[in-house]
Amino acid sequence: MSSDDPNQLVELSYVSKATHAMGLSSLVHLFDVSYKWNQDHELTGVLFYENGHFSQILEGRREDVLFLWENIQKDYRHEILHRIELGVIDQRLFPNWALRFYGGDQIAKDVPHLAGLLDGLPSHDVELLRIMRSVANGNED
Ligand SMILES: Cc1cc2nc3c(=O)[nH]c(=O)nc-3n(C[C@H](O)[C@H](O)[C@H](O)COP(=O)(O)O)c2cc1C
Repeated sequence: MSSDDPNQLVELSYVSKATHAMGLSSLVHLFDVSYKWNQDHELTGVLFYENGHFSQILEGRREDVLFLWENIQKDYRHEILHRIELGVIDQRLFPNWALRFYGGDQIAKDVPHLAGLLDGLPSHDVELLRIMRSVANGNED
């Protein structure tokens, strides 16, 4: 399998900063559109919004992930601060979530360490990825 095989399963993660405060209806709209597209393209992952910062893990076919990544980078709602990783994976961490959204209260409850890290980048990549990935375990409802 070559490294640019469009069917290869990859994971991409990044952190970005919202260009303006995202109200609940803006977040719901973003989530709805994203969820649908991801579902149609068998993309899975998580999206966090905290402290004016987004972070996301996306999993899927390389071609689909990279296509979406082009759009995400151009999106006026945020500025990409840092792409953490683009790597080949053997299996998905979030096989059942076309997109799982975490924000505010839910982050405080389920991933309390994330809030503090989201604007302390890019020095904590490994820690941030570990925390983002940790929500895959035991929260599949
Ligand atoms: C933080 C953030 C995360 C996003 N995540 C996704 C996603 O997972 N799936 C998706 O289809 N769009 C996502 N989008 C939206 C895309 O950037 C873009 O609006 C969408 O692909 C539609 O592009 P188009 O308007 O050029 O057709 C995200 C946008 C932001 C700001």
